Parts: sequence; C-alpha cells; structure tokens
Amino acid sequence: TVIASASEGLYSTISALVHPGDEVIYFEPSFDSYGPIVRLQGATPVPIKLSLADFRVNWGEVAAAITPKTRMIIINTPHNPTATVFDEADIARLKALTRNTDIVILADEVYEHVVFDGAKHQSMACHSELAERSVIVSSFGKSYHVTGWRVGYCLAPAELMNEIRKVHQFMVFSADTPMQYAFVDALANRESYLGLSAFYQRKRDLLAHGLRESRFELLPSAGSFFMLARFRGFSDETDSDFVLRLIRDARVATIPLSAFYSDGTDSGLIRLSFSKDDATLIEGARRLCEI
Ligand SMILES: Cc1ncc(COP(=O)(O)O)c(C=O)c1O
Repeated sequence: TVIASASEGLYSTISALVHPGDEVIYFEPSFDSYGPIVRLQGATPVPIKLSLADFRVNWGEVAAAITPKTRMIIINTPHNPTATVFDEADIARLKALTRNTDIVILADEVYEHVVFDGAKHQSMACHSELAERSVIVSSFGKSYHVTGWRVGYCLAPAELMNEIRKVHQFMVFSADTPMQYAFVDALANRESYLGLSAFYQRKRDLLAHGLRESRFELLPSAGSFFMLARFRGFSDETDSDFVLRLIRDARVATIPLSAFYSDGTDSGLIRLSFSKDDATLIEGARRLCEI
C-alpha cells in the first residue's frame, strides 16, 4: 500500500492492530511517535532500553518482557537515532522469540537503503518466517531526500494489510497523486536508491574527518544518516543545555539523545545528522571543533 509518509503508515498500522489492554515492546532511544501512538490506542507501551555500551538489543530482556498481552514488537533498522543496524544474530533471536506466538512485528525500515561498510540491510522481507508476521513501513522521503513530499510504502501479509487499509482509507484515503507519479519516474533509475549507501557513507566520513581534532568522542555509525557524539568527557551540562549552547554559541543545531527516551535518560550524547551538503558539514565540523 502506498502511504502518505512513514508516519502515516506507523499510525495506521498500530491503530489497526493494537487495541486496549495490548502491550507493545519497542526500543529506546526511539523515534518519537511509537510510544504516543500506542498510548492513544489505550494500549501499554513497553520500552526496553538499548545497551548504553553499544546500543544493541539485549534479547534476554525482550524475552523477559514478553507476556500473553504482547501484541507487537516495533523494530527500527537502520536505527534512528543510534545508527546501529540489525545483524544475522538479531534476526535469529527475533525469529526464536516470536515463533509460535501471535506477535506482529512492525518494522520501521525507512533507512533501508542507507547501510555502510558493505553490511546488508536485514529486512523482514528477506526472512520468510518473519515476513509472514511483519508489517514493513518505509519512506520515499528518506530515499530521495524529500521529507516534505510525504509518500511512503507499507508491506504486509494480506490479512494484516486488509485491516491496515481500513484505517488508511478513513485517515487519508490515498497518498498524494502527483507525488506518486513523481516517484514512479524516480524509481525507474535504480541507481537513485541503490547508490545511497555510498552517497551517505562518504558524508559520514567527511563529517567524522572534520571532527577528528574535536573533543567529541564519535560513536560508530553503521547506517541511517546519523552519528552520536559524546561530550561527557569535557562537560557536565545536561544534554539539552549543551545542545542549546551549541545553537547559541556555534549556530550548530543537534538533538540531545534524552529527547528519544520516555524517561529523559541523559548519557551525555548528542545526535548529529550528515544529511547536509558538503560545505555545511565541513563548516559545522569546524565550529564544533571550537567547542
Ligand atoms: C525511524 C523513522 N521512522 C519514521 C520516520 C518518518 O518518516 P516520514 O517522513 O516518511 O513520515 C522517520 C523520520 O525521521 C524516522 O527517522
């Protein structure tokens, strides 16, 4: 189904499939809409924190959090905001944990075409056992640098999609027609999306190079167009205060990682985006080196 942005797809999917009393597991730090959409259905969000050491999923904690009320697990690979990606081991654990259950996987794969260093994107669509219980949501906004055009796509087995379309129809009826024609043309050129990993990997490396003499500790970025930077080594400010100071003093806008937690966890990290032209990245890095 062509959807009016991934945001719409996430909302339509969760409101079609999650009901009062259900529990939905997802991982924090997380994209900001998951928890509120679950709460709006009268269901209970069950956020599990990614390990602070490497921001990977602790599957033992997921196993412990699953109850008979668990209706859905939301995953996001490549991950916003931590730039981690699922590997084969994550897929194996996800298969084992959901086998013989009614749990639906909502896979937010909006950065599916932005995976670095030769790694392979682990789409739910590539694993038949997971595909049959998954709803995949993706976004043309990310693949074509047009976040304002608001078109995406949603894949799911027919019985799940029938329910999702009931919400989609009464919420937006359809995605914007002129934009759909535009994407049909754009998709004819496969390089436009198959070349994205190389496009963003170069920008990631440009930003990291520009920051090599800074006081920030950069965390690895394996996918998406984000990178986390640790400032705790040289400042005890809260991450929000630190971000405000960067905006005021350096005129560089970043996001405090605490904004991606429902309990405001602050580990002294900020999220940088390298979805910018080269000149902006070079100048932004130069200014951050002065902090
Ligand atoms: C992980 C994730 N999911 C969903 C979205 C929403 O995408 P869209 O702009 O298509 O609504 C974003 C946008 O930032 C995102 O980072």
